[in-house]
Amino acid sequence: MTMTLLVRRCLFLAAAIFAFLFVVSRSFAQQQPWMNSQLSPDARADLVLEEMTLDEKIDLLHGNGMRGVSEPRPNDYLSNGGAGFVLGVPRLGIPMIQMSDAAYGVRSSGENGRYSTALPSNLAAAASWDTQAACDYGALIGRELRAQGFNMTLGGGTNITREPRNGRTFEYQGEDPILAGTLVGNRIKCEQAQHVLGDIKHYAVNDQESGRNEVNVIITKRALHESDLLAFKIGITIGNPSAVMCSYNAVNGDFACENKYLLTDVLKKEWAFPGFVVSDWWATHSTVKASAAGLDNEQPMDEFFGAKLKEAVQSGKVPLSEIDDHVRRVLRSEFAAGLIDFPTQKSVVDVEGGFDTARRIAEQSTVLLKNSNATLPLDHAKLHSIAIIGLNADFGMISGGGSAQVDAPGRAPTKWNEHIWFPTSPLKAVSAKVPNATVAFDSGKDPVTAAALAQKSDVAIVFASQWTGEEMDLPNLSLPDNQDALIAQVAAANPHTIVVLESGTAVLMPWLDNVAAVLDAWFAGSKGADAVANILFGDVNPSAKLPMTFPRSEADLPHPNLVIPPKEAPGRAAVIKSGEAKPTFAVNYDEGLKVGYKWYDAENKPVLFPFGFGLSYTKYSYSAMKVNPGKETVVTFTVKNTGSRSGDEIAQVYAALPASAAEPPKRLVGWNKIHLNSGESREVSVQIPVEYLSIYGENPDGWKLVPGSYTFMAGPSSKDLPLSSKVELK
Ligand code: BGC
Repeated sequence: MTMTLLVRRCLFLAAAIFAFLFVVSRSFAQQQPWMNSQLSPDARADLVLEEMTLDEKIDLLHGNGMRGVSEPRPNDYLSNGGAGFVLGVPRLGIPMIQMSDAAYGVRSSGENGRYSTALPSNLAAAASWDTQAACDYGALIGRELRAQGFNMTLGGGTNITREPRNGRTFEYQGEDPILAGTLVGNRIKCEQAQHVLGDIKHYAVNDQESGRNEVNVIITKRALHESDLLAFKIGITIGNPSAVMCSYNAVNGDFACENKYLLTDVLKKEWAFPGFVVSDWWATHSTVKASAAGLDNEQPMDEFFGAKLKEAVQSGKVPLSEIDDHVRRVLRSEFAAGLIDFPTQKSVVDVEGGFDTARRIAEQSTVLLKNSNATLPLDHAKLHSIAIIGLNADFGMISGGGSAQVDAPGRAPTKWNEHIWFPTSPLKAVSAKVPNATVAFDSGKDPVTAAALAQKSDVAIVFASQWTGEEMDLPNLSLPDNQDALIAQVAAANPHTIVVLESGTAVLMPWLDNVAAVLDAWFAGSKGADAVANILFGDVNPSAKLPMTFPRSEADLPHPNLVIPPKEAPGRAAVIKSGEAKPTFAVNYDEGLKVGYKWYDAENKPVLFPFGFGLSYTKYSYSAMKVNPGKETVVTFTVKNTGSRSGDEIAQVYAALPASAAEPPKRLVGWNKIHLNSGESREVSVQIPVEYLSIYGENPDGWKLVPGSYTFMAGPSSKDLPLSSKVELK
């Protein structure tokens, strides 16, 4: 027998033995009591836990590297190509956890030779105020994760927009905790229904990117609970996510991933969160302290929760009961989400279905901010020439960067924070609406040629973009690259100038008075251009409303100057992976409860566009308000469509608390989105849980209703509330 033949036979034998053992151990696992899906996730987790060795337990508490970023490890081949993975326990039927970022779609499809739908950004979708859209959003991502072999999402960004220059504002759900929490909760609920582990992040107050690894956020307990934590609490209550990702920053002195107050006292005790806490990538700073504080899983490596954790258990520094608690949380989440009963099966992503959902959500998310003289909708019959102006507006629309980035089809995998344009072409989408008109394009690089084209066209549509991404904050809210001058010159050449913004956050508009119409399409996703064209030509009546205030200038923000690390600060490298790390600078959120519109209201500062604002092609009137106090306060009123087109109205309810509560002037407490045909009216009823009317008090800590006189207000935006009614609440 030749050597090669011998080697081949040995390999064949080894493979056969491996396959045999695999089948035997799988069928053994299959017959075990924890495979009984009639038992509760907790009972199933306990049964597995009893069988596990210490090494197997430790395996569940850390990652094994992030391909292409961390040093490759021998078991790297087990990775599905996502941001991280956790080993399973094959002999007990516990699968690996394969994690992927999936903020507005599944990340890293390019380098893995796969495809993902890009939905409109999270901020965009928040402008729909639509819980069904949030559900569709989550379900699509859940399906595409599974199709690509992942069983955990790292999406679910819920940080409150307290600093609008934050480069990740597009990944979050705006400035109001009740709106943000409700939407992210519905997204997670439907994402997890696809049998993937859901996640909510970045817990907590990771509200700026500047110095995010080194910053210490100083904030009062009350402001913390009534802003960011309230959004997380609502999101967790509605969505039941498997995991909460702790953030990079420190909060009141302790890094979030070793912050006992945040992880144990609030999350696990006060809110009774049964899932696990996963660290943001390289946000773990210790073994004993982090484990005791409530961190359950370190990512993406095992610097602190691998050998060091095992050693800490063996030397008695970390009790085994603490390890068991971490492991139980991971296991029960896997059973609860259905990872074990419905193992992942790779399949082909439903591209057409994804386009449809992406377009529909973009249509619900695009906000009509200005529409002088009913410029919009455009009338195909009357238009002979249209100028399409703007960088890449012939080709595509911009998307948000960082770990949220979805790879665009037909091009190489994205490099970190590269500007990626999705091939959804405004020029083509508009041209398709007006086959008999001339539609011409100018990139806008030279405002003079753009203005000349605008002058000889019936209307000019400028697509203006503001790219944002992770690990950066914007220096200001102005459009970059001379686009303000471009818009001003085009508007001077053509009074029928329409601006379509592709933005990741609020935008300043020095040219606002001189343009006829403005739409904010945000980062609009795979089918953004079709959605925008449908709105421009009136096939869709816009209904979205701003989930964040657009200020007049940075001078009006709570922190006119972005708080950045001082020059002498040692930087990220000094704190990351260091067990001794301390934050190196502080940001003091001394605006307290006054976040977003609550700030502008309290400080009497006029804004460019208020929270909750958005126009429609029809008109609505509000009347007949009644307030019924009770276990839940119920506010009812009538909304009538007084215009000539059908539409969806987002009717908002705000409450002013009694003066003794010492709160900002008002807060959003509920809303209802209703479809009304022309001339139709409907009684709307909004249920308000008592907590949404309460304040977070200390000693004893918790939510309390302040007895006194409450004013309820209803209307189309935070600054337009035609109805109001006072009641006493006890
Ligand atoms: C981000 C997280 C992300 C993780 C993994 C971090 O830089 O802050 O949001 O999930 O990377 O990619």
